[in-house]
Amino acid sequence: QNQRVPLIAGNWKMNLDHLQSIAFVQKLAWTLKDARHDFATAEVAVFPPFTDLRSVQTLVNADDLPIAFGGQDLSAHDSGAYTGEISGAFLKALDTKYVIVGHSERRQYHGETDADIAAKVAAAHRHGIVPIICVGETAEDLEQHGPSAVPVAQLRVALEGAATGSDIVVAYEPVWAIGSGLAATSEQAQQVCAALRGVVAEVLGDDVAEATRILYGGSVKASNIAGFMREADVDGALVGGASLLLEEFASIVRFQK
Ligand code: G3P
Repeated sequence: QNQRVPLIAGNWKMNLDHLQSIAFVQKLAWTLKDARHDFATAEVAVFPPFTDLRSVQTLVNADDLPIAFGGQDLSAHDSGAYTGEISGAFLKALDTKYVIVGHSERRQYHGETDADIAAKVAAAHRHGIVPIICVGETAEDLEQHGPSAVPVAQLRVALEGAATGSDIVVAYEPVWAIGSGLAATSEQAQQVCAALRGVVAEVLGDDVAEATRILYGGSVKASNIAGFMREADVDGALVGGASLLLEEFASIVRFQK
């Protein structure tokens, strides 16, 4: 049995405004408290839109809620003439613990390359934020290159930005499984997550690989989370659609192996 505390992360994408974010986080905290969720068995984090982060921070701090939060992206730059960008310094000033980098929607709709993602990993680490590095293959990649080749190659480049001694989280999100209702099997997830752990070991060393949490994402729901969590190299989930459904997300957090 490893020492890694599973992480259940909710990526809200472009959903919930700042008022809705307050209501949601408050209800989530109550629901988990009522269910006596032990946060030592699974850490919980939410990733609201940027405009919600200040509200979520205020609520979490005021009520001392055991819910972490983070940004869905950050700029590779620290400040300056970059209209529309959000720096790691701004995120850090709002107490964000994590930031998602390299989500497939950023790669697909905003043309982010592996090199851009490495620069964002470096930016996160400059500001003491833990990047959740997303990798994953399209259906076409899967057909052409098999299950692990593309995510492994993406991670190898992204880790060029990682600072020695700084934490990372990796999220394996097969693009074909995102929002499709068709999740990978737990065996498929295990196979790729094990390969990704191998890359972390190769680049950052065995101790870092042993301590790094590798998440699965793509159509995770309450009914399939336990299967993923039984796998040796899957240390949690990055949840999209189901993270917006209060009871469903709370059930995912409270998965039973
Ligand atoms: O980042 C989470 C994600 O892309 C998965 O989305 O809706 O398939 O859970 P979903």
